[in-house]
Amino acid sequence: MEVKPFIWKGDRLLLLDQRKLPHKEEWLELKTYEDVASAIKDMAVRGAPAIGCTAAYGFVLGVKIQKENPKLVYETLKNTRPTAYNLFWALDRMLKALNEGKDIEEEAKLIEREDYEANRKMGEHGNELIPEGAKILTHCNTGALATARWGTALGVIRSAHYSGKNVFVWVDETRPYLQGSRLTAWELLKEGIPHKIITDSTAGFLMKKGLVDLVIVGADRITVKGDVANKIGTYTLAVLCKEHNIPFYVAAPTSTIDPNIKSGDEIIIEERSPQEVKTCGECPIAPEGSDAYHLAFDVTPSELITAIITEKGVFKPEEITKALE
Ligand code: MRU
Repeated sequence: MEVKPFIWKGDRLLLLDQRKLPHKEEWLELKTYEDVASAIKDMAVRGAPAIGCTAAYGFVLGVKIQKENPKLVYETLKNTRPTAYNLFWALDRMLKALNEGKDIEEEAKLIEREDYEANRKMGEHGNELIPEGAKILTHCNTGALATARWGTALGVIRSAHYSGKNVFVWVDETRPYLQGSRLTAWELLKEGIPHKIITDSTAGFLMKKGLVDLVIVGADRITVKGDVANKIGTYTLAVLCKEHNIPFYVAAPTSTIDPNIKSGDEIIIEERSPQEVKTCGECPIAPEGSDAYHLAFDVTPSELITAIITEKGVFKPEEITKALE
């Protein structure tokens, strides 16, 4: 059975610290909305849907203390990471629920439950696109750890595996946070899904050699036009897929679709500390005097995407808003 990345305890949120994986399974106990905001900012939890779910629970913790000032709680949680739309979607939904006098704890639980159910549905829809024995390449971590369990792109791979399709997974290591080698490989290993870790620069040559049947990735934000922001390196994979005539799929719940922006150029791309590029774990891997440029995400234009898999079905990227109807 796949892992659960966070557990709501009514007065606190238990969070599996993803910075420590795969070596240590350490749980953080988050008691305040400030604790939750720091956990999102420092990437103890990451992955667009998981960020949305934990922010919703953070809002519940915050409103208990800041009864007179829920906007402060909302703003603090919102100002943690700029790219993943699920964060803003979840917080807007929580604020609306509060203003409508709903039970906000129930609303947060519903957001979590809906995300899990959406993942299972994406798994079913996506599995129809996966051939028997497919060699699948994936980037970053889009599994149980990045969601309320099961996963988006990795959820589709899970569904294919459990339907007996004998799939094999190429896992991009995903520098510099190593979501692929640390987290995706850890999830696949736990469940006995055949895989091998590759450096990010290996993908093109494997495609040339005919060793990749399809690529499937997740998304942090999808625009009305079907452009997709996702982990840095995604765009490169999409270009390589075009060159080698390989299908390039995106799997994401409808909570990742931003109805307010048309083009990917409008997406704010998070820039993180150069220090994360200049080290691997705690170990320095670059001259102290050299600077580094660390963009956490890139944007893949809709023309390079074969299809977007959502819980509502499979859509052409340019028709993605149909998933919101
Ligand atoms: O920086 P991260 O680890 O939060 O980035 C995560 C990704 O880019 C994922 O591909 C995306 O959030 C989809 S997770 C289901």
